Amino acid sequence: MTSGGLVRRNLRRLCSLYLCPSSWFSSTAVNNCIKAQDIATRKNSMAERRVYIILFLFLGLISYAAAYDPLDPNGNITIKWDVMSWTADGYVATVTMNNFQMYRHIMSPGWTLGWTWAKKEVIWSIVGAQATEQGDCSKFKGNIPHCCKKTPTVVDLLPGVPYNQQFTNCCKGGVVASWGQDPSAAVSQFQISVGSAGTSNKTVKLPKNVTLLGPGLGYTCGPAKVVPPTTFLTTDRRRKTQALMTWNVTCTYSQFMARKHPSCCVSFSSFYNETITPCPSCACGCENKNKCVQSDSKILNMVGKNTPRKDGTPLLHCTHHMCPVRVHWHVKVNYKEYWRAKISINNFNYRMNYSQWTLAIQHPNLNNVTQVFSYDYKPLVPYSSINDTGMFYGMKFYNDLLMEAGPLGSVQSEVLLQKDQNTFTFKQGWAFPRKVYFNGDECMLPPPETYPYLPSSAHGHPLLSFSTLICALLFLLLTI
Ligand SMILES: *[C@@H]1O[C@H](CO)[C@@H](O)[C@H](O)[C@H]1NC(C)=O
Ligand SMILES: *[C@@H]1O[C@H](CO)[C@@H](O)[C@H](O)[C@H]1NC(C)=O
Ligand SMILES: *[C@@H]1O[C@H](CO)[C@@H](O)[C@H](O)[C@H]1NC(C)=O
Ligand SMILES: *[C@@H]1O[C@H](CO)[C@@H](O)[C@H](O)[C@H]1NC(C)=O
Ligand SMILES: *[C@@H]1O[C@H](CO)[C@@H](O)[C@H](O)[C@H]1NC(C)=O
Ligand SMILES: *[C@@H]1O[C@H](CO)[C@@H](O)[C@H](O)[C@H]1NC(C)=O
Ligand SMILES: *[C@@H]1O[C@H](CO)[C@@H](O)[C@H](O)[C@H]1NC(C)=O
Repeated sequence: MTSGGLVRRNLRRLCSLYLCPSSWFSSTAVNNCIKAQDIATRKNSMAERRVYIILFLFLGLISYAAAYDPLDPNGNITIKWDVMSWTADGYVATVTMNNFQMYRHIMSPGWTLGWTWAKKEVIWSIVGAQATEQGDCSKFKGNIPHCCKKTPTVVDLLPGVPYNQQFTNCCKGGVVASWGQDPSAAVSQFQISVGSAGTSNKTVKLPKNVTLLGPGLGYTCGPAKVVPPTTFLTTDRRRKTQALMTWNVTCTYSQFMARKHPSCCVSFSSFYNETITPCPSCACGCENKNKCVQSDSKILNMVGKNTPRKDGTPLLHCTHHMCPVRVHWHVKVNYKEYWRAKISINNFNYRMNYSQWTLAIQHPNLNNVTQVFSYDYKPLVPYSSINDTGMFYGMKFYNDLLMEAGPLGSVQSEVLLQKDQNTFTFKQGWAFPRKVYFNGDECMLPPPETYPYLPSSAHGHPLLSFSTLICALLFLLLTI
């Protein structure tokens, strides 16, 4: 690829991601932005710097409201129903839930799946899951269905149920791993036997209004759609069979729908400036400030203080940010050809152990990760041209469990990055991440003007002095 082509692609992405989020600017504006940036780049090597400044400005503003995830544009949960056989009054189907999200898993207490039957269907039985309520089955004599509700709600079984109630990929308490961390565990399945339904692909009516809690709010599911039947290979892989009928439902996550405030925040520090840039105050909302716990509180000695609540209400350690989780990025060492950052995660919730936690980070130097010392790392390349996003997660049996708040409630690792001499700088907050997601929820970053900056900087505060120019600059760029 020519360097011009590369630059243009980079600009397109920067423009559409940071400068002109789709709902704020028309596509003409995006194109103008790209054109303007492109010309500016050719004219002036400062253009890239400008893009970064604009990027910083818009990051905090736009990212939280976005419904789709720019770091994982294709991520979703797909629920597929494969009708495996017809029965006298309905069908037996295998239901498969695949989590195609790179770094968002379904953690304990697991998923809850609901839907509305289109006709008067009943569930005769379920293997590998169960309906939470039976409902009114009074009109049945003899065999009583498992669930007669018009809107059944199904949950996974807990590990260790008897073999005759198990099904492949079931019985994990509804916990489903993220695709990036463990594709083999990113699936959950159960088998359902439905009665009073159609008994051919012409008479079966698809369930409506599918809902998914994972475990909280945030997922929106589309309508069920009939798709070509799934094919299965026999165990000797020499024969193919196929479902009698297949439909699937796609559910996507929106943090905006899940909660009013972020659920984590980010703080920064560096070797070149003793200032620690804290999380923004009330980053996760201060409504419950009076319910938080000081570290010397007597509550901490009470038995059962750690017991998670059904509704997931946290018991937070008192902090000025009131976030259950804080991510700290410390720029630690500068070598000739490398630099080193330390990434720690602190848990401030006394009622939560985060198992299989993930941290997705966007930083331009993640294309040259040389070593990650005590986390696992996987590059995420959501747009094939730019390699600036990656996910960190705990090493199995070492730090994959982020323990409840307290002395053990943190994990940390260092990462060694190779410098690209053309882009590397400690100026203007370049060494700090652009986006941080913990468990798939975007964390609030500190405002750019508070980042630790290089003492040697001759122009005083680089970001502050630029920030007044930004509006004019933006206007200029869009109107060239
Ligand atoms: C139903 O089955 C028939 C043949 O078995 C097939 O031609 C038709 O496409 C199927 N319809 C649906 C909705 O799957
Ligand atoms: C879909 O389900 C939700 C929650 O169960 C309910 O509030 C809503 O009214 C339902 N919509 C339809 C069209 O059934
Ligand atoms: C739904 O099923 C069809 C056919 O199996 C498949 O092509 C499609 O990708 C599925 N949808 C999703 C979102 O996976
Ligand atoms: C977290 O895990 C530890 C050790 O497995 C356990 O003792 C503790 O009760 C758990 N805490 C919560 C909140 O589940
Ligand atoms: C992205 O960068 C990582 C190093 O951080 C490297 O291992 C990986 O091969 C790169 N991927 C692409 C598609 O360039
Ligand atoms: C950093 O990564 C990019 C792309 O992955 C590569 O082209 C470049 O040579 C790397 N820089 C160094 C200094 O290794
Ligand atoms: C370190 O950064 C802070 C905040 O950006 C700034 O106020 C301070 O002057 C810097 N310290 C030095 C020694 O430059």
